[in-house]
Amino acid sequence: MEKTFVMLKPDAIQRNLAGEIIGRLEKRGLKLVAMKMLRIGKEMAEQHYGEHQGKPFFDDLVSFITSGPVIAMIWEGKQAVQVTRKMMGSTDPQEALPGTIRGDYGLFTGNNIIHGSDSTESAGREISLFFSEEEIITYHKDMDSWIYG
Ligand code: RTP
Ligand code: MG
Repeated sequence: MEKTFVMLKPDAIQRNLAGEIIGRLEKRGLKLVAMKMLRIGKEMAEQHYGEHQGKPFFDDLVSFITSGPVIAMIWEGKQAVQVTRKMMGSTDPQEALPGTIRGDYGLFTGNNIIHGSDSTESAGREISLFFSEEEIITYHKDMDSWIYG
């Protein structure tokens, strides 16, 4: 099964959207295999968003993501990376379709509620940045046979 890294950004926590978003991912059938709340430091933020270093929005991005606690998670499922990206919607919430997380809850690119890995390679890198092997739980869910047939 594919794993993806998901992070509820500081705005999601401040706006009491965490439970709603976790519920959406859960109800879709994805399986939660790791979760923790943390306050990201500047160095970790710069590492996580390393691909954007040098871009005009980089400093604002780092200061936003370090501005309050986040919830970091690993979700598992068939095509988990792509499925989660589709559920998140476009980077700019004004472009995101209704029914997506950003399309339902956001209005501004800088505060777009949720991060999700954009490829399996990014997922691997982000998972190892935020979690140790021992923090990732392997377990069986009976419901999977009803989700995947
Ligand atoms: P994320 O990495 O947070 O899941 O978002 P994403 O893949 O949809 O978008 P990405 O291109 O990776 O950009 C990372 C975050 O940087 C901010 N951003 N601002 N002002 C701008 O043009 C701009 N572009 C990107 C957003 O907060 C975006 O989520
Ligand atoms: Mg991205």
